Amino acid sequence: MSFETLRLALLVLHFVGLAALIGPALLRSVASWTVVPIMLTGAAIQVATGNGLIAANQLQGMHVIEAKMIIKLALALASLVLLIVAAVRLRKARKRGKHLEARAAERAAAGIGGLALVTAVIWT
Ligand code: HEM
Repeated sequence: MSFETLRLALLVLHFVGLAALIGPALLRSVASWTVVPIMLTGAAIQVATGNGLIAANQLQGMHVIEAKMIIKLALALASLVLLIVAAVRLRKARKRGKHLEARAAERAAAGIGGLALVTAVIWT
């Protein structure tokens, strides 16, 4: 393994550590929020700030790798849609007085987020 591969792997882990450090505290800070709404907010923030970053780069004449951006946008939108569907299902269940979990959707959205992270870090 080259040192560059090691550096990129460490950078991916660095972002995972950051998410693990901040995510649970965010979850606790808004007592009424559960995992799906906070993940949904995170996915929406990624889509909004990602597009903002593209605009900010282009306004300064700086180049972005278009194919990478399209893939990251598709991944972020996929996790956003999954989480919206899960949030709607959870809300309907709560209205009927039932308790429902959305573990599969949470895991899938996190996995897709992880793929977007790896894409961001290794594709330069
Ligand atoms: C879950 C989704 C996402 C994750 C985990 C993620 C992660 C990252 C990371 C780790 C970086 C810093 C490394 C780098 O410069 O490549 C980054 C930068 C960037 N991301 Fe994302 N991203 C996501 C979604 C998006 C989306 C949807 C877009 C745009 C449509 C986007 C656009 C950008 C841009 C333009 C930068 C470069 C910023 C700069 O150098 O000025 N990202 N992203």
